Amino acid sequence: MSRPHLRTTRIDLRPMTIEHLPPLHRLDSDPEVMRYLLGRARTPEEIDAFWVPRCVDTAADEAGLGWWVGFHDDSFLGWWDLGRSDSNPDDLLRSGSAEIGWRVERRHWGQGYATEGATTLLRHGFETAGLQLVWAETMAVNAASRSVMRKAGMRYVRTEIRSWEEPIAGADQGEVTYELSHQDWSSAREN
Ligand SMILES: CC(C)(COP(=O)(O)OP(=O)(O)OC[C@H]1O[C@@H](n2cnc3c(N)ncnc32)[C@H](O)[C@@H]1OP(=O)(O)O)[C@@H](O)C(=O)NCCC(=O)NCCS
Repeated sequence: MSRPHLRTTRIDLRPMTIEHLPPLHRLDSDPEVMRYLLGRARTPEEIDAFWVPRCVDTAADEAGLGWWVGFHDDSFLGWWDLGRSDSNPDDLLRSGSAEIGWRVERRHWGQGYATEGATTLLRHGFETAGLQLVWAETMAVNAASRSVMRKAGMRYVRTEIRSWEEPIAGADQGEVTYELSHQDWSSAREN
């Protein structure tokens, strides 16, 4: 299997490549977008250090997983990932479970894009990539991301309070985990 090009009603989800580096720079340069990730914008150097390896990493392709960028009418929306390409692909295939995540440009927030992309990636993960479980994590105070998890059919599992060297605002409320199993995903489709 390779990481496929996916389409939703409005979003063209393309496997992330190095040509997507400029819009990824724009995205991570916005402090509001990075508020619950770093508590500030990434510097250009940090953006290159983070994204260049991921743009060229195809390690999870054999599992049909990795990073995607989303476009609507050629306008960049953001990225989605399922089963990080920096995870060990053998582990992904063996465990049958993968993490899902998303990040959308601020001017496109509140229009249902994150949920639409997540729903399509969940379908791909369960129907094509053979996943048994998909999980997601965010800061407890990240209400928008939690709302995407809920709307995509994922259920709240736990809150963990972790210690951070440089905690960002809201870290004291902890990190939440949501999950969706293949079985629950299939049952929701039958009802
Ligand atoms: C989280 C994020 C991807 C959501 O993108 P989006 O395209 O706006 O998401 P959707 O439109 O599909 O859904 C957002 C939901 O959150 C709700 N929401 C947004 N801000 C909110 C807030 N401060 N409090 C409560 N709900 C909020 C919206 O109302 C919407 O729910 P609704 O459809 O029931 O009204 C986007 O805000 C983002 O990129 N944030 C920065 C990066 C990030 O935090 N990523 C996740 C880290 S784990």
